[in-house]
Amino acid sequence: MRIAVVGATGMLGQHVARHTLRAGHDLIALYRNPRLLNSLADLRCEARQADLNDGDSLRCGLRGADAVIHCAAYYPVLQNQSGKSWQQQRD
Ligand SMILES: NC(=O)c1ccc[n+]([C@@H]2O[C@H](COP(=O)([O-])OP(=O)(O)OC[C@H]3O[C@@H](n4cnc5c(N)ncnc54)[C@H](OP(=O)(O)O)[C@@H]3O)[C@@H](O)[C@H]2O)c1
Repeated sequence: MRIAVVGATGMLGQHVARHTLRAGHDLIALYRNPRLLNSLADLRCEARQADLNDGDSLRCGLRGADAVIHCAAYYPVLQNQSGKSWQQQRD
């Protein structure tokens, strides 16, 4: 399968990304901060930049994925600057 890991540069996401490859899947690694891309340097993956607050970048980032593993820190009680939670925006 082609699996997208959201938050692949995070602590949990890095482990999940590695397990995904070890299990024989193709990996799409979604990251937000390009300065953390070096954490993916040794992985055979397609790295795509996406932000949970930006639906277009998320849609592009997930294009072609058979499955998604969401490892990005996500706290629904937090509100972004527009006053909408990430949950509301994503929906
Ligand atoms: N660590 C654990 O032991 C553990 C255990 C159980 C559950 N969890 C849960 O798993 C989730 C991840 O935890 P973690 O420890 O891996 O956190 P982390 O190391 O802080 O990683 C969070 C990841 O989410 C990304 N992210 C944050 N906001 C984003 C946004 N708006 N759009 C796209 N990506 C975004 C971060 O990217 P940037 O680097 O660009 O900010 C980072 O890659 C959390 O919800 C946590 O509660 C963690």
